[in-house]
Amino acid sequence: MNQDEAKRRAARAAMRYVEPGMIVGVGTGSTVAHFIDALAERRHDIAGAVSSSEWSSQRLRAHGIEVLDLNATGELPLYVDGADECDGAKCLIKGGGAALTREKIVAAASRRFVCVIDASKRVEVLGRFPLPIEVIPMARSHVARELVRRGGQPVWRDGVVTDNGNWILDVHNLRISAPLALEAELNQIAGVVTVGLFAARRADVVLIGDEVMP
Ligand code: 5RP
Repeated sequence: MNQDEAKRRAARAAMRYVEPGMIVGVGTGSTVAHFIDALAERRHDIAGAVSSSEWSSQRLRAHGIEVLDLNATGELPLYVDGADECDGAKCLIKGGGAALTREKIVAAASRRFVCVIDASKRVEVLGRFPLPIEVIPMARSHVARELVRRGGQPVWRDGVVTDNGNWILDVHNLRISAPLALEAELNQIAGVVTVGLFAARRADVVLIGDEVMP
């Protein structure tokens, strides 16, 4: 099975968690694109979506799905999103699509986080995929120095501006054996907006293709 087909299967499998009348939290990326397409088939059956990026909002609206403001919806029953890496404890690296801040917000505001991936994303130890960190532009060099002090190799994703007007550093060379502790530590660096480690709010359910990860 090719990678895109595995992503499509995972996205379709996530539809099992969508119930009538729900407001669904929607992530960002090529796997989520398949989920949005599947959700469109049930658009009359759901109350709308809360989106984690301008890109996903456009795709949702193009399919006739209403995009709602998280401030108006309250807590969500379900959030569906992809990931760049997933370890055995369902901790994730996210942010390959630069949408990590809104993704983390919607995940935090949701009771159940269903993560949809293909098998290539499943790793024993996080860190092969460079860790994305969203930073306030004026803090880029300061944050980069702090990351070097911790053994990372930050690379500025030049030319990319997030939906929030910020920049991204991709940190290479990290072997993340304690994701919860590293997330907390990196969150303390002045100028960091969001760390693409999803450990404090990790996935509740991971679908690898159409299989539920044990
Ligand atoms: C975007 C993300 C995506 O979920 C992640 O990059 C995976 O993307 P894809 O489904 O295209 O492989 O975190 O910020």
